Amino acid sequence: MQNSFPESFSFHRDDFPADFVFGAATSAYQIEGRQFGGAGSCHWDTFAATPGNVPRGDDGARACDHYHRYAEDLDLVAAAGLDAYRFSASWARVMPRGTGEVNVEGVDFYDRLVDAICERGLQPFLTLYHWELPSPLADRGGWCNADIAAWFADYADVLLARIGDRLHAVAPINEPWCVAWLSHFLGLHAPGLRDIRAATRALHHVLLGHARVLEVVRARGAGAAGAVFNFEYAAPADGSDASARAARFYDGVYNRWFLEAVCHGAYPADVLELLEPHLPDGWQDDLATIAAPLDWIGINYYTRKLIAAAPGRALPAVAETVGDLPQTSMGWEIYPAGLGEFLRRVAAASGGKLPIYVTENGMAGADEVVAGAIDDRARIAYLDAHVAEARRALADGVPLKGYFVWSLLDNYEWACGYDKRFGLVHVDFDSLERRPKRSWYALRDALRPTA
Ligand code: FCB
Repeated sequence: MQNSFPESFSFHRDDFPADFVFGAATSAYQIEGRQFGGAGSCHWDTFAATPGNVPRGDDGARACDHYHRYAEDLDLVAAAGLDAYRFSASWARVMPRGTGEVNVEGVDFYDRLVDAICERGLQPFLTLYHWELPSPLADRGGWCNADIAAWFADYADVLLARIGDRLHAVAPINEPWCVAWLSHFLGLHAPGLRDIRAATRALHHVLLGHARVLEVVRARGAGAAGAVFNFEYAAPADGSDASARAARFYDGVYNRWFLEAVCHGAYPADVLELLEPHLPDGWQDDLATIAAPLDWIGINYYTRKLIAAAPGRALPAVAETVGDLPQTSMGWEIYPAGLGEFLRRVAAASGGKLPIYVTENGMAGADEVVAGAIDDRARIAYLDAHVAEARRALADGVPLKGYFVWSLLDNYEWACGYDKRFGLVHVDFDSLERRPKRSWYALRDALRPTA
């Protein structure tokens, strides 16, 4: 099966503008090893420890032990010929209780890490929150509590005071939809709530937290201040009006809620009609803050969903159905055209000039080690098709400045534990040995400068 896929990429970096950035992305909880270096407990530890949430109760206690092996990992980024490294910091590593006392060892770690990124000639793209909320803040309601914006700003300020001088770009939050809806309405990520009021409050507070931290990034002069959204292409599952309405709601709460808030200072009217009763008092007063200008927008893109109405269910009455496109090991359909769609859509919403990055794109595959090698040609095909969409968008005038593969390493894939492998580099979770996959070598060839 793998043999029907290409062995190399069809693009070369010369096909892109000279300043176009190729990078790889990771996140703290997924790779660092939470048990090392004095980090506090976070709500992913407790979510994973609750039976039924994650296979085998896998958590990020050790993960890839990047905490001790970061130099080797960054060597792999540099040796692939990549230009940038997108990573996140763990709030609970910097402030084990979420507020107050700072874990000096944790801040020292990020200081060393950023130095190591820069030493290899890579541009550091930092995310301040990639999902691990310190447990004491989860106890206080986490993203449902309006105070989180101030807690988040304090943490950001402590960390950026130390490392902000060397950052190329900063995004406060990775994927606000996941932080709010996936985690508080669908219950599939920590803290695992299924509560419309909690979810709606989180939808608002996550944007408020984003905005407050943007102010901190600017005050600290810590690189270009941006935002990273996961956008998912939503199409009606059939020709019925009911499916069209359901798909519109899905697109509304997934995509338009965030894009319209940050670009236009408004929530989409159709979604607001359903969610307004659950928003915190005075939400309107925050919209101007939420729409503060951005230096760039990042798009994380993986798949599309076919949406049908789910009769008889409470709000929102949507059901995901599976189409007939090839799927990755996540069961996600491969739909590269959706990336092109979002690149054009975000460019239009943000005025056509704001720099855009693809901050995550990639796939999970079976990725077995056979005779010491991992022949992940399916990944090469997946990435190649999406990079082709990126090139088309550039040709259409989208101000696309870079493309990051998710992920550098196989890692802790949240509610799937260690079962789903997204890396350009294979990780043996017993020995922790790293082994570049065929996709890593192919990318190195595509990025090699012409003599
Ligand atoms: C994204 C997350 C990332 C990883 C990929 C597969 O939504 O940002 O941490 O889990 O999906």
